[in-house]
Amino acid sequence: MNANIQFDQPLVGQPVDRTDGLLKVTGAAHYSSDWPLPRLSHGALLMSGIAKGRITSIDTSVARGMPGVLVVMTHDNAPRLPDGGNAVNPPASRRLSLLQDDRIFYQNQPIAVVVADTPEHAADAAQRILVNYAIESPQLDMQAGKAQLHTPEKLTRDPVDTTRGTPDTLLGTGAAQIDAVYTTPFEVHNPMEPHATTAEWEGDALTLYDATQYITGCASTVSKSLGIDVSKVHVICPFVGGGFGSKGSVWSHVVLTAMAAKMAGRPVRLAVQRPQMFGMVGHRPATEQHIRIAAGADGRIIAMRHDVISTTSTFEDWTESSAVVTRMLYDVPNLGTTHRLVRLNIGTPTFTRAPGEASGSFGLETAMDELAVALNADPVALRLRNYAERDPEGMPFSSKALRDCYSVAAQRFGWSRRTAAPRSMREGEQLVGWGMATATYPANRSPSSAFAKILPDGTAMVGAGTQDLGTGTYTVMTQVAADALGFPLENVRFALGDSILPKAPVSGGSQSAASVSPAVHAAASSVRDQLVQLAIADSGSPIYHASPADVTVRNGWVTLRSDASKRDPAAAVIARNGGRALEATVDVKPDEDAKHFSKHSFGAVFVEVHVDEMLGVIRVSRVVAAYDVGRLLNSKTAHSQLMGGVVWGIGQALTEEGLLDSRYGRIVNNNLAEYHVPVNADVTQIDITVVDDTDLVVDPMGVRGIGEIGITGVAAAIGNAVFHATGVRVRSLPITLDKVLTT
Ligand code: MOS
Repeated sequence: MNANIQFDQPLVGQPVDRTDGLLKVTGAAHYSSDWPLPRLSHGALLMSGIAKGRITSIDTSVARGMPGVLVVMTHDNAPRLPDGGNAVNPPASRRLSLLQDDRIFYQNQPIAVVVADTPEHAADAAQRILVNYAIESPQLDMQAGKAQLHTPEKLTRDPVDTTRGTPDTLLGTGAAQIDAVYTTPFEVHNPMEPHATTAEWEGDALTLYDATQYITGCASTVSKSLGIDVSKVHVICPFVGGGFGSKGSVWSHVVLTAMAAKMAGRPVRLAVQRPQMFGMVGHRPATEQHIRIAAGADGRIIAMRHDVISTTSTFEDWTESSAVVTRMLYDVPNLGTTHRLVRLNIGTPTFTRAPGEASGSFGLETAMDELAVALNADPVALRLRNYAERDPEGMPFSSKALRDCYSVAAQRFGWSRRTAAPRSMREGEQLVGWGMATATYPANRSPSSAFAKILPDGTAMVGAGTQDLGTGTYTVMTQVAADALGFPLENVRFALGDSILPKAPVSGGSQSAASVSPAVHAAASSVRDQLVQLAIADSGSPIYHASPADVTVRNGWVTLRSDASKRDPAAAVIARNGGRALEATVDVKPDEDAKHFSKHSFGAVFVEVHVDEMLGVIRVSRVVAAYDVGRLLNSKTAHSQLMGGVVWGIGQALTEEGLLDSRYGRIVNNNLAEYHVPVNADVTQIDITVVDDTDLVVDPMGVRGIGEIGITGVAAAIGNAVFHATGVRVRSLPITLDKVLTT
C-alpha cells in the first residue's frame, strides 16, 4: 500500500476557485476553434445522405467555382493513406471514414470536405456538391437484427461473458423471482463545445489544435493514419468544452482536416456542426438487458442473470458493457452475464460517461427495486442484505465505504419517513415518489509523467501532457504541486494540453486525478528536495548545515522546522547558487500490489419525484447522493463534477433519446432543440456528500476518479421513485409521460 502523504500546507482538498476561471469568463481561453492563425481557411464537411451503399458519382464542379472556395476534397482526389485509411484499429482507436473509397456504412458519414476563405463559403459550397448513390438496404432495426446476434471478441477491460456457481439451475427457486427486460436508447454526448480541429502544416510537420480528451492519443492516431512519424505531429489543446467520452477517440474529421490543410497549403479550421455530431463522433448504443433474479424470503439473492444486447456499427464491435457492474456490486453466489451485439448501419458507438455502468446500473438497480417490492422489503435493507464485503469475483476491495453512503444519504434525504406502498404519498395534485439506487464506477489508474521547475524568480512551473475537460484539472494539479513544493498557490503555474509535455493518459475512465496527481506530486517533491539540498549546502543560507529532516519549504521559503525564524526564500537560494532553474521530470506507474485488489468507487442516490396525476408530467424535485470516491483534491470542483453527473442521470432517465429513422438511418432529432438535455428548470436540488475515505491502494494521493460515477444509479433511482409515486414500472428509458400514463 502507498504511504499516506502528509502535507505541510494542506491546500489539497480545499475548495480553491478554478485557476483558469478568469480566462474562461473573459473569453481569453482559446478553445480549438478559437486560434487566430495567419492565412486561416475554413473547412466544411458534407455527410452522406444514405445509410448503406456506394457513391456512384460525385460532381464538385459547381462547388469548386463558388466564391472563396480553395479545395474540394472527395474520395476521387483525397490523398491516399496507408492501409486504405484503416491504419488505426479498435479497441485503442475508432475505425475512421477518410475518403479512401466510395463505400457508405452509415448516415452522416463524411463524404467531402470543402475548404474556403470563410466558414459560410465552405458550408454553402458543400451543399452544391452533387452526389449519386447506389443505395443498398441498410440494417437499422435492432429487433430485426437480433436474429443475427454477434459475440464481441472482448470488452474494454473485462471478459465478455462470466459464470460463477450455477445460476441457470437456481433461477426459479426461492421465495421471489424477477424476470424482466430493461432497455436504454441511443444517446449522444452533446458536449457544449462541438468537436473542432485546426490543422497547420509547416513542411512535413503538422500542428493540430484539437478538441480532445487525449492529446498524445490524437498525435498517435493522426500520425498512423497519415503515415508520418509521430514526432511530426504536435497537438495543442489547453481547453476542452466537455467531452464525456466523445473526445476520447480521434474521429474522422481530425485526419480529414489535416489532409485538407495539406491540399489547401493553408491552415484549415473545421468545426463540426451540431447535426453532424449525431453519427460520426460516437454515441452510447441502445441496450436491451434481460435480468433474472431468484431470492430467498430473507432477501438473500440466490442466483442472477444479466444478459445484454447492444447495438454497434457494421465495421466495429464496440460494446456497451452493461453487465460488468452486476459482477461486483452484490454478493450473488450464482451469477451469469453475457454481452451480445446487433450490427446496424450506424456510426460506431464509443465510450459515453460511465460506459456500461450508466446503462447497466439502470437495469440492475431497477431489478433490485422490483425485488424489494416482490419481497416487501425496504430497498436499502435489501441492498445491505446482499452487501459485498469483498468483490464476489474474488479479490478484496481496495477500500469500500458504501454502507456509509447509504446511511448518510438516507439520513439527509429523510428516507425513514417513506411509506412503502406506491401512490401512498402526495402533495395536492402531485403524486410523490421516493426511490433510491446504488452508484458505482471502477477506480482506474495509468502510468503518467510530469515535470516541475523552480524558476530563478522563485515561482514554479509544473506540467503534464494531460487535459482539462472543464472539470478542474488545472486547479487540482496546481493545488497538488503547490502543496508538494511548499509554495503559495499563486506562485505555481500548471501547464497541460500540449503533446510536447511529459506523457499522461487519456482523460477518460475517470482516471486523470489518480494517474496524474501522483506524478505531479513526485516531480514537485523532487525539485523541492533539490532546493532544500542547495540551501543546506550553502554557507550563505540561514539554514546552512541543518539536518534535512528539520527543513521544510513553506510559503515559498526554505524554513527550519525547529526555528521558523530561520528561513530563506527560494529565489535567494537559487540566486546564490548559479541562478539556474531547478528541474525534474518523473514517470510514475501504479503499484504492482494494486493488481491484487478490486478498485471501485461507490455511492447511494436518493430521489424524490413529483408526478402530475392527470398529465403524467414527471419532475425530479430532490436528489440526495453520497459518494465514496477516496480523498478529494478540491471539494468545490469535485462537488460540481458529481452534480454534473447527476444532471446527466436526470437527462438519461427522463429526456435523452436519439431517434433513428428506420428507413434512412438519420437521427431525426439531431439538434439540441429536439434531443433534450436537462435545463435549469429540470434540475432543482442536488445535495452531494462525499464520505470520508482515502484509498491508498489506488494511488499515494488516496484519490479515486469522480468523472463518471455521478451519472450511475441516477436513472434507476428516478425510475424507482416514479414507480413509488405511480405504481407504474417503466423499464424503458427515457421515462416519458406517455409511458407513465399508458403502460
Ligand atoms: Mo469517459 S466515457 O471514459 O470520457
